[in-house]
Amino acid sequence: MALTIDSERLSRELDQLAEFSDTAAPAVTRVVYSEQDRRARAFLKGLFRDAGLEVLEDAIGNTFARWPGSDPDLPAAATGSHIDAVPNGGKYDGTVGVLGGLEAIRALQSSGFRPRRSIELIVFTAEEPTRFGPGCFGSRVATGAMVDWQAGRLVDKDGKTLDQWRQEAGFEGPLESVAWPEGRYASFVELHIEQGTELERAGVPLGIVTAIAAPACFRVTVEGEGGHAGTVPMPARRDALCAAAAIVLEVEKAARTAGAEESVATVGAFDVFPGAANGIPSRVRLQIDIRDTDRARRDQLMNQIMTACRDCAIGRKLTVRAEPICMDAPAECSPEITATLARAAGTHGLAWRHLASRACHDTLFMTRVARSGMLFIPCRGGVSHRPDEYAAPEAIANGALVLAEALAELSA
Ligand code: GLV
Ligand code: MN
Ligand code: MN
Repeated sequence: MALTIDSERLSRELDQLAEFSDTAAPAVTRVVYSEQDRRARAFLKGLFRDAGLEVLEDAIGNTFARWPGSDPDLPAAATGSHIDAVPNGGKYDGTVGVLGGLEAIRALQSSGFRPRRSIELIVFTAEEPTRFGPGCFGSRVATGAMVDWQAGRLVDKDGKTLDQWRQEAGFEGPLESVAWPEGRYASFVELHIEQGTELERAGVPLGIVTAIAAPACFRVTVEGEGGHAGTVPMPARRDALCAAAAIVLEVEKAARTAGAEESVATVGAFDVFPGAANGIPSRVRLQIDIRDTDRARRDQLMNQIMTACRDCAIGRKLTVRAEPICMDAPAECSPEITATLARAAGTHGLAWRHLASRACHDTLFMTRVARSGMLFIPCRGGVSHRPDEYAAPEAIANGALVLAEALAELSA
């Protein structure tokens, strides 16, 4: 089987997809269900159909492009990723796994290969947590990790509901229809940029992921007392922003002193109310993202941060309320899939190394329902979630090639 990746076409399509953005290039901002997300989806569906794939969507917009196998009743071999992009993000996160997955399928098609199991390319809805809070929303619901009534309660920061958003985007139908029946997929492989520096530093073209870290995320509301910036004396103040700032620094300190490089914590979203330059802030909403590849260590860090929130509330005589958004367990990738990926890389003479993913991915949820794994390619300086995110065309082509080889084995 001679597999050829059309690297020029793949780069061109990545560039085209990046044009669907709410921020000027090179930044990409594509939040789920936005106008740009809808246009990007239409563009992709056109490519899928041009490749002769059957396209289906579910009630939240998870999209499935299927190449039927000769035994279509067997559980399928799946690949895929996401196309939503964080605010002011880059053009490779997620998209490499979607367009690289499409290119892998095309390479298999033109080699004359015929799959026994169907091969499915999945575009997961809202891998990024931007709109609704929990990341990996599409895979979370499809794999049953989030049930329909939990999904039905999601709202964005302005109170607009998931139902309003998805209907506006043209996705209708009951949420309970999103969860897959058992045994739908035999395997899942996600191709993704590493978003770290391990491969680049080692000069190795491929990473085979063994474990995936998972975040514990909290929405924290700090409520103090507003007032006039000139007239309320300092001892009488219960400034919500000062308390929130203290919490942010406690989050940083807790992660820095956790004793493991894998322990990280971030406050990346922060809203001050009422936002008047001459008014004492009465309320702040912030989100805390706490991660580790080791669950016990992550939970210990999380408990320490929650204690800091409580101490801050007591010390400053105001209210701090922390609601969990998600608290998922890190996952192990399937040893059979990592072995398949190693064989596939070997077939093409490409070096690889095992590594853990510190970012979260839809594969975390796919491990619940199918043998799953991930293939990483290097990205420049490990930069991601930034406009200067970059992966070289040759690196992407290597990933697509090895993915194609792996899909051949997994669909046979
Ligand atoms: C996804 O980008 C994540 O790791 O949050
Ligand atoms: Mn991301
Ligand atoms: Mn991603």
